[in-house]
Amino acid sequence: MQIENLFDGVYKLDGKLCTEGLVPGKKVYREEHKEFKGKEYRMWNPYRSKLAAAILNGLKNEHIRKSDIVLYLGAATGTTTSHVSDIIGKDGILYCVELAERNMRDLLTVCESRTNMLPILADARYTERYDSMVKQCDIIYQDVSSPEQVGILISNSRFLKKNGYAYFAIKSQSINIKKSPEHTFRKALDELSHVFEVVEEVKIEPYHKLHLFAVLRKI
Ligand SMILES: C[S@@+](CC[C@H](N)C(=O)[O-])C[C@H]1O[C@@H](n2cnc3c(N)ncnc32)[C@H](O)[C@@H]1O
Repeated sequence: MQIENLFDGVYKLDGKLCTEGLVPGKKVYREEHKEFKGKEYRMWNPYRSKLAAAILNGLKNEHIRKSDIVLYLGAATGTTTSHVSDIIGKDGILYCVELAERNMRDLLTVCESRTNMLPILADARYTERYDSMVKQCDIIYQDVSSPEQVGILISNSRFLKKNGYAYFAIKSQSINIKKSPEHTFRKALDELSHVFEVVEEVKIEPYHKLHLFAVLRKI
């Protein structure tokens, strides 16, 4: 077996992307687990996670670090959040905002065994609902597939430290199905330019169609 350390807490084990499991033995989405030199690694499926897809498609820098505070908008059932939870480790904090009660039920099961994940059942358009719960963050991750994606990122940017990074999974089909994806991506990034500078852009096909994964820095 061979291990390659790609970024903080992100590895390739025998060529497969993975993170070191924070809670040994616990599967979140039936992902494969492998042991290597006394540690357990969780294989990270790029078809289930846009961050995994971006890493495999050549993301140059991954900014999530051990002990970071992360605000995750659109946590769904906990797939990507579980890997982010692995990366930040037990001293980090991961606020998981999710609107759908059905998804939140599954997410709660994941949060039960991962003490760094704090579930928040809320609509990310209304930041005042979780204002008092959320500390200043190092990273915002936004993957809400909503026509209001841009506005949601702008309003939540007040939780992000200056020079903090935002990971923004832009879904063109959620924003405007009548315009070309490229037009929608450019317009979205342009609308954010008074708050963020663009650091990196990664197309995440074939794993996720009609998406752009953008890495932004708060100015
Ligand atoms: C594409 S899924 C996210 C997948 C997840 N990021 C992952 O990789 O595991 C989008 C999620 O955003 C949630 N969502 C949509 N609009 C939202 C809003 N306004 N506030 C919070 N969550 C929202 C949906 O319920 C859904 O669970």
